[in-house]
Parts: sequence; C-alpha cells; structure tokens
Amino acid sequence: MRRKATITAIGKYVPEKILSNFDLEKMVDTSDEWIRTRTGISERHIAAEGEASSDMASFAFQDLQRRFDIDPQEIDVIIVATITPDMFFPSTAALIQYNIGATNAWGFDISAACSGFVYAMIIAAQLVENGLYKKVLVAATDTMSTITDYTNRDTCVLFGDAASVVLVEPTENAEFGIIDYLAKMDGSGKDFLYMAGGGSRHPASHETIDKKMHYIYQEGKTVFKLAVSKMADVSIELLQRNSFTGADVGLFIPHQANKRIIDACVNRLKLKDGQVLINIDKYANTTAATIPLGIVDGYDQGRLKPGDLLLMSAFGGGFTWGSMLMRWSLLQ
Ligand code: UT7
Repeated sequence: MRRKATITAIGKYVPEKILSNFDLEKMVDTSDEWIRTRTGISERHIAAEGEASSDMASFAFQDLQRRFDIDPQEIDVIIVATITPDMFFPSTAALIQYNIGATNAWGFDISAACSGFVYAMIIAAQLVENGLYKKVLVAATDTMSTITDYTNRDTCVLFGDAASVVLVEPTENAEFGIIDYLAKMDGSGKDFLYMAGGGSRHPASHETIDKKMHYIYQEGKTVFKLAVSKMADVSIELLQRNSFTGADVGLFIPHQANKRIIDACVNRLKLKDGQVLINIDKYANTTAATIPLGIVDGYDQGRLKPGDLLLMSAFGGGFTWGSMLMRWSLLQ
C-alpha cells in the first residue's frame, strides 16, 4: 500500500493593519456596496512598511510553533508558494530557513500564483509518500500590496496580504491523510493575469515604472468565467475518480478570489452552505495563502474533525488550477 502523507501542524499570520472598503472609497472611485456585492470582500490586511513575504511566513511558523511543539531543526524541506518573493534570488525558502533556524532543511520556491498552495502540497505529499523525507514545511505567503496599484479600482479592491504554513509528515494510520490530487495548467492564460515588469522580458527600467508594469494586470471577466468552470471541473474529476460525491465532503476550502466564484462552484458540486469555508470577507484574495488560511480558520472554528473529508481547490494566474482531497487527521 502507498505510504500516506498528512498535515500534522498549522499556523497563520495576517498583518495588523486593516484596509477596509470604506478606506478604499477615499482612494479610488468605488463603494463598499460594489465591493461587497461583486466580490464578497469587506476588508483586507496590509503588511507593514518593509514587511516582506519571508517575514510573514516566519511569523506564521512562530504561530505553528506556539500551537504544536515542532523543532525547526527536524524540518527536512521547505517549499514556498509565492508570486511576491522578497527578491528573485535567493529563494524565499532560503530566507525562511534562516529566519526560523531550520538549519537541516533544503528548499525552493514555486510560482503558481493562486494555485501555489495546491501545487506545493502535491510536491510535499510526493516527497513524503516516496519515503525520502519525514517533515516538509509548506509555506504560502503573498505580500500582494507590493504589486497592487492603489489608483486602479479594477484590482486594488481585490487583494490582501497574509501567510500560512502547514507541516506535512507521514501518517501511521492509513485511514487519514492525503488521498489524491490533480494539478493542471494552460499557458494561454498568460495574457489575462500577469505582472509584466521586472522579469527578463521587461527588466526594470524607468519605462517599466512609468508604464506601471510592476503591478498586477487582470482581465477580470475572462478569469472569472474560467475560475468557475475549471475549479468545479477539477474538483468533480477528483471526487469521481475516488468514488465520492459532494455529499461526502466534510469541508470544501476553495481559493478565495470572489465569493460569486465560490458560490457557483458550491452549486456545481451540490454542496450545502455548512460544507464550505468562506473567509474572503475579512482577508480578500491573499493569492497562495487563501487555502491554508482557510484550513487554520476551519480548524480554529471546530469545523475540521479527524476523519472529515477535506476538499481544496484553486484557480489562478498561468492559468494554473488544481485540487486536493484528504481525510483530516489533526486533533484539536
Ligand atoms: O485569484 C486569481 C484569480 N482571480 C479571480 O478569480 C478574479 C476573477 N474576476 C473577478 O472576480 C471579477 O471579474 C471582478 C471582481 C474583478 C470584477 O467584477 P465584474 O462583475 O466582472 O465587473 P466588471 O469588470 O464587469 O465591471 C462591471 C462594472 C464596470 O462598469 P461599467 O463598464 O459597467 O460602467 C466597471 O468599470 O463595474 C465597474 N467596476 C467598479 N466599480 C466600482 C470595476 N471595478 C470597480 C470597483 N468599484 N472597484
């Protein structure tokens, strides 16, 4: 039988500063009513001046350590999902390794935008399932405020900053842990959701700054339609190939980009309100961090009990999308 991996510890960090819809009303031509009804967002957290993605992830790890007694020196691998690394290199994983004192770990960053957590978890599961490593830390951290144009109402209302970490370890009990996963990608999505400036295509220059190329660009309507269909399709495919239906799901934690996208997925999966976790109202879209933030919130609210079937699903830039199914194993 396949060795199984499971989540054995979790932690989160959200910066103190809150940017509400009412604050945004004073910055761009928008309204609390428009943002709430079109997206489900009421407020988002914004990193302090100088606070970078590695800092937020390190704070999330401190939260994990407060909750679970984990020795950082036992961590074998650190995988970081982020599109807002502190810098191109060294990797955010290296910076986190140094910050938290995980001196025996190697690691790397992966760039899969909003699907980053699902992608990173698939790699973590593989590293544990094949018996190579015992403790893999997955950190999802995005400081979206650093690539958001706060004069552009199309995007500035949508994003927030946060980090969350989970520890993946082998499980002794075959009834628990990660059951299956699916990841997908369609590079034709490159034209609809991107940040063009600063890379090797358009290295940083006065021109890239003048043209605001270091900010997120999104064609919202196109992304919206695909997010609804792909997130639901991949979730249904994963459930079906494991002989489950929506009725078997204990908790669905979808990527939180827009409450209307979540509602449409919930309808396609035929889930009831009590089966889905929605926290977009207080955090907005924190890119890679949305699903693990949802895991911590669900756990803290007593909505994740050992044996519950947890379905996670995401869609984002690339386009990338994917889903993971697990039997929750962590006691409260
Ligand atoms: O996580 C990565 C994946 N990202 C997503 O999944 C996001 C997907 N897209 C979306 O969530 C939605 O498309 C948005 C929330 C971005 C936009 O919602 P929408 O219902 O698609 O609005 P729209 O772009 O069609 O705009 C409708 C109207 C427009 O005005 P007109 O042309 O009808 O007069 C916009 O100019 O709303 C206007 N508008 C706004 N009004 C007030 C756009 N943004 C705003 C705003 N405040 N912030």
